Amino acid sequence: MVKTIGTAIAGLEDLGKLAPKLKELGLRHLQYGVAPGHYSVVGKALINAVEFFLKDQFTTQVHKTWDKVIGIVAQNMISTNYEEEDGPNLTPRKIKMIRESWAKVATLGDKAGIMLY
Ligand code: HEM
Repeated sequence: MVKTIGTAIAGLEDLGKLAPKLKELGLRHLQYGVAPGHYSVVGKALINAVEFFLKDQFTTQVHKTWDKVIGIVAQNMISTNYEEEDGPNLTPRKIKMIRESWAKVATLGDKAGIMLY
């Protein structure tokens, strides 16, 4: 997590470039059981850590800007990963579920085919 925040900080000039990676990271978090509401809790804990180290240098302005960065990272991680079906398309979570379960069936090779007939 600290490394990812570091990457975001290194790329502050163009956070949009990180969006695809953050979306993938968010999808893995969905699989870990993380819900969208958890992001603000973890975000606050991270900001508390920054405050702890900065002490009186942690001004309102610094606080507000950190809120913004964490908000953008969290927003990208949540992105469309938690959306319900939109028209005929499956959610990323369901696509992952189908691909993973099919990969298990596919390891059976022809044996899986024989079971179908
Ligand atoms: C600021 C947003 C966050 C960032 C940048 C972040 C980053 C990371 C990274 C880089 C990993 C390593 C595994 C991977 O790449 O898939 C990870 C794992 C994990 N994170 Fe996060 N995370 C964030 C928010 C959260 C939140 C809100 C929760 C839930 C309370 C959470 C729970 C977990 C869990 C359970 C793992 C797996 C640990 C393991 O199996 O060893 N993370 N996180």
